[in-house]
Amino acid sequence: MDAFVTTSASTSKGKQPAKVQEEPAVAYELPWVEKHRPRTLDDIVGNVETIERLKVIARDGNCPHIIISGSPGIGKTTSILALARALLGDNYKEGVLELNASDERGIDVVRDRIKSFAQKKVTLPPGRHKLIILDEADSMTTGAQQALRRTMELYSNTTRFALACNQSNKIIEPIQSRCAILRYARLSDKELLKRLLEICEVEGVKYNEEGITALIFTSEGDMRQAVNNLQSTWSGFNFVGADEVFKVCDQPHPVKVEGLLKACVKGQVDKAMSALDDLWVAGYSAVDIVVTLFRVTKGMESLNEFIKLEFIREIGFCHMRVLEGVSTIVQLGGLIARLCKLSMKPELFELPKP
Ligand SMILES: Nc1ncnc2c1ncn2[C@@H]1O[C@H](COP(=O)(O)OP(=O)(O)OP(=O)(O)O)[C@@H](O)[C@H]1O
Ligand SMILES: [Mg+2]
Repeated sequence: MDAFVTTSASTSKGKQPAKVQEEPAVAYELPWVEKHRPRTLDDIVGNVETIERLKVIARDGNCPHIIISGSPGIGKTTSILALARALLGDNYKEGVLELNASDERGIDVVRDRIKSFAQKKVTLPPGRHKLIILDEADSMTTGAQQALRRTMELYSNTTRFALACNQSNKIIEPIQSRCAILRYARLSDKELLKRLLEICEVEGVKYNEEGITALIFTSEGDMRQAVNNLQSTWSGFNFVGADEVFKVCDQPHPVKVEGLLKACVKGQVDKAMSALDDLWVAGYSAVDIVVTLFRVTKGMESLNEFIKLEFIREIGFCHMRVLEGVSTIVQLGGLIARLCKLSMKPELFELPKP
C-alpha cells in the first residue's frame, strides 16, 4: 500500500499537494469518468423513458434479453452495470459474466465460456436470472453472433443477455429479434450541465458560466468527453473558463468563428478571409473549421432564418467536399466567398452592359 501511495503522490505533482494527504490516494489515481460513474440507475442522467423502463425491470426481475445502442459516452455500459447490480445485488459475482471487446470473443469463446456459464447452476433469488453482459457487441464477428442464437434460446430459463453497442445494425437480425432494443440518444445540454455542475461541486472546481458552456459545446452530447475535458482543464489551468477549455480541446474558438460568420453576413470578404487565415495558421484542419462553422451557425440567434438555412446548405456541401479529400484553404476560401455572396446585392454581380 505504501508503494501505491508514493506513486500516486508523485503522479499528481503540482496539483494541490496538501489535498493528497486528506484524500485517499486512490481518488487521485482514478479519472473522474470512472470516479463519478453512476452506480445506480437513479444517478444516470438523460434518456429518462428508457431508464424508467430499466428501473421497472430491475424492480420486477424477469429481465428480457436487451440491446442498448447509441453513440459513445452516453451511459450504455453504465446502465447495464447498474441494472445488473440492481437485479443481482450480492449475487453479482456469481450471477454476472461480463465480456467486452478487450476479451477474446470469437466463436470458441461463445461455445466454451458463454455456454458453460449459461449451464452453470447458481442459486439466485426468485425471479432473477444470470446475466451475460456483452459490451461493445458490434465488434463480435458474425460467426460468434450466429453461435449465440441457439444458446440464447436454450438457456433463457436461467440466463439473460444484455448487449451494448454503438451501431445496432452490426448485430445480426436474428439476435435483434430475440432482444428488446433500447436506443439511447445523445445527452441534451441541460443534462450535461446538471452532471457537470454536480461534479464541479464535489471536486471543488472553480469555473465560470462560459467555461461550462464551452465544455458542453465541445462535447456534443458525449458525457465522457465532457467530464474528461473538465478534468483536463481543471488539472491544467486550475480554472475552467472558455479560453482554457478551448485550449485543452483544441477546437477553433466559437467566438472567432462567429466573428467570421458575422463578416460574411455583412459581405465583408476581406475581414472574413483574414479570420479564416488566422484559423488556418493556428493549425486547425479543414474539417475542424467546417464543423465548427456549422455548429456556430446553427446556434447563432442573430442570423435571420433564410440566411441561416442558406449558410447551412453551403457549409454542408463544403463539408462533403472536404471529406472527399479536398481539404485545402482554397476550398474553405470558396465557401467563405459563397457565404459572403449570399448577403451581397445581386446587382453587384451583373456584368456591365456594352
Ligand atoms: N447518462 C450518464 N449519466 C451520468 N454519467 C454518465 C452518463 N453517460 C456517461 N457518463 C459518464 O461517462 C462515463 C462513460 O460512460 P459509459 O461507459 O456508460 O459510456 P458508453 O455509452 O458505454 O460508451 P461506449 O459506447 O464508448 O462504450 C461514465 O463513467 C460516466 O462517468
Ligand atoms: Mg461502453
